[in-house]
Amino acid sequence: MFPEHRPRRLRRTETIRRMVRETHVRVDDLVYPLFVKEGSSIHEPIESMPGQFRHSPDRVAPLAKQLSSLGIPAVLLFGIPGKKDASATSAHARDGVVQQAVRRIKDAAPELAVITDVCLCEYTDHGHCGILDDAGQVSNDDTLEVLAKTALSHAKAGADIVAPSDMMDGRVGIIREELDENGFEHTAILSYAVKYASTFYGPFREAAGSAPSFGDRRGYQMDPANVREALREAAHDVEEGADMLMVKPALPYLDVIRLIADEFDEPLAAYQVSGEYAMIKAACERGWLFEDACILESVTAIRRAGADLIITYFAPRLAELLS
Ligand code: PBG
Repeated sequence: MFPEHRPRRLRRTETIRRMVRETHVRVDDLVYPLFVKEGSSIHEPIESMPGQFRHSPDRVAPLAKQLSSLGIPAVLLFGIPGKKDASATSAHARDGVVQQAVRRIKDAAPELAVITDVCLCEYTDHGHCGILDDAGQVSNDDTLEVLAKTALSHAKAGADIVAPSDMMDGRVGIIREELDENGFEHTAILSYAVKYASTFYGPFREAAGSAPSFGDRRGYQMDPANVREALREAAHDVEEGADMLMVKPALPYLDVIRLIADEFDEPLAAYQVSGEYAMIKAACERGWLFEDACILESVTAIRRAGADLIITYFAPRLAELLS
């Protein structure tokens, strides 16, 4: 007891603090999400995500080189297609926007790992993550086949890792089967296993033009109130062949990250989503918080909770801060 015990002794200098620090964020842990938009010479700012842009495929090569030279190991691609339809045809087109961007990135910076988001919401004219049935409901089983085709087309373009984010049941197994049958047994699957129906995706939906035109995503994404369900979702995906798991969003779900990290051995990613980014940006623009400190503290908290990888729009700035 005090006065023998004085925890402040180990907080006295930065050197001592460094020596006893328990959690470290490394540039190797970072994944940078990138929006690619059909067209050419596009470098378009995203209003609700200051500092983030939509790029056309012809503009991604220099960016890929720059990210790679910062030491960032991977990008996560989202596509904004020129055409949308009811069956998300452009999601699996050989010359789809993501497929084009993957080829350009792999040409420019082959060492940069390319992860592709596999979902239909950016490609459907109604903005839902799957194919609708006659009653206007998202049909799980009709969607699976389109997701599998989409994942395969990403793998054919050169994606190292495919990341299904649609939250249909059984998608990891179907994607694994499709990849294996076509000779892509080395393409890994990062499953958005635990993805909540979160309001913090708002800015992303502006960025990707993917807000649902009616209803919401609560029929397929998880209820923010649930946590036992997260264990079931992760267990299913591991059984179906997921190589890595994800929890999303990150900061409001640190308890879920901790739980999944404790229960599963698979590498775990956490996604600091668009709304988390926008909150920090907005407060810092007003001078109410300091941006670099917010970035470091938030990702440290996400690591401390148990995430191995952090998908974050702050990745380039973090890489600078960490070097
Ligand atoms: C696609 C998808 C979304 C995000 C990642 N993949 C949007 C959604 O589910 O509505 C959100 C990412 C972010 O907010 O940064 N389904």
